[in-house]
Amino acid sequence: MPNWAAVVMAAGKGTRMKSKLPKVMHTLAGKPMLQHVLDCIRKVDIQRIFVILGHGREQIEGILDSVEIVVQEEQLGTGHAVMQAIPHCHGIDHIMVLSGDQPLIRPETLQSLAEIHKENGAAASILTAVFENPQGYGRIVKEEGRFQKIVEEKDATSEERLIKEINTGTYCFNVAKLRDALEKITPQNAQGEYYLTDVFKVLQEQGEIISTYCTEDVHEALGINSRAQLAQGEEIIRSRILNHWLDEGVTIIDPNTTYIDEDVELTSDVTIQPFTILKGKTRIAEDAIIGPHTTLTDCICGKGTSITHTVGESVTIGENCRIGPFAYLRPGTEIHDGVRVGDFVEIKNSILGEGAKIPHLSYIGDSQIGKSVNVGAGTITCNYDGVNKHKTIIKDKAFIGSNTNLVAPVEIGEEAVIGAGSTITKDVPASTLAIERSTQRNVKKLVQKKK
Ligand code: UD1
Ligand code: CA
Repeated sequence: MPNWAAVVMAAGKGTRMKSKLPKVMHTLAGKPMLQHVLDCIRKVDIQRIFVILGHGREQIEGILDSVEIVVQEEQLGTGHAVMQAIPHCHGIDHIMVLSGDQPLIRPETLQSLAEIHKENGAAASILTAVFENPQGYGRIVKEEGRFQKIVEEKDATSEERLIKEINTGTYCFNVAKLRDALEKITPQNAQGEYYLTDVFKVLQEQGEIISTYCTEDVHEALGINSRAQLAQGEEIIRSRILNHWLDEGVTIIDPNTTYIDEDVELTSDVTIQPFTILKGKTRIAEDAIIGPHTTLTDCICGKGTSITHTVGESVTIGENCRIGPFAYLRPGTEIHDGVRVGDFVEIKNSILGEGAKIPHLSYIGDSQIGKSVNVGAGTITCNYDGVNKHKTIIKDKAFIGSNTNLVAPVEIGEEAVIGAGSTITKDVPASTLAIERSTQRNVKKLVQKKK
């Protein structure tokens, strides 16, 4: 839509959240509310986006890209917020105004609102919704079906409070007409603020065309002002995401205990077991089975891999691997195809070659492990000398006996064998047995004495 821009109001403090974080930075499905709103606008054909910032501006600026920031120094109300954007609107005929605290809004709805606005040649258009419990929202006052004004809850008469059609806080405006109307509003109301909602009354009295469009999806009208509404929003967005993946052919055994962030990508025939949390930009390929009780953040998981009772962060896992139960995979880890990582194994910043096995009770840090290496139970890479971290290299097909300490830096050659219980401090050449243990003494008399 040429000559259109979006204005997102996000300068308020969000007092009702009782938080040091600006309201619009609170997250839903792993993403700040404001980001949800911006992502939604980007799916509509609008090129320029203005974001009104004020309170907590420094904390918000970091997540913004490809938007124009307009500062509202003092937060004197939503009317005052939009006023700040008007001088930047050269060459723009219409603006769509949204609130940064309305993250469930959908692009289809914005598109419909804009179309109705254009078709009616309206000066202003309002997105409304009908709420069983409209408490806290501005009410749409109509007379004989014709729009009259928006009245805020705090300024409403008891009769007006019974109205169930509410203002969602999303609008389209003809810029020139909005500019004139904004000059006429005053802060003479219960909150002492310049209400954007007052411009509708001004425009109505001037005989301008005002259209209202009522969305059927009441969820998207949810404005998040409190932690209770944040939890409500989370629940709605969570079921939207789960339903999306169910439609795409993912099996989710128990949607009630499954949490998937919005930017996660799944594939058909993935199975998600109960109590699983997939966060950040995690990607899971087909036939993988994740969970139960698994949390993955920013992980990539290949085809046919199963991961159970595991915590993973920033890890790449290949195809047909078996991970867990009770594995802890830390950042910088790259697991190639066909690897087995078993119970109580922690892996940090390490590469595990194809077909390697670390079945039980190990710590592997800053290591490079070759193909088909077998690491016995209780093996520890001693990577930290108290000051620096050092690297352990284990070449292809080496066999590390149980309860081995590998004191880094150290390198174990191809097909080398380490005897169980050794503390290895020197490199081991290829195809060599290294064993570091004191000789066993069997003292017979001691046992006799005890008896
Ligand atoms: C607003 C509407 C109300 C509507 C509701 C929908 C007004 C006067 N009221 O009420 O009719 O039903 O949204 O959710 O508009 N903001 C600024 N600068 C300011 C004040 C607010 O940028 O000076 C921003 C806030 O950060 C927020 C948005 O504007 O993102 C809405 O403000 P908020 O105080 O939440 O308005 P509501 O009381 O919810
Ligand atoms: Ca609000």
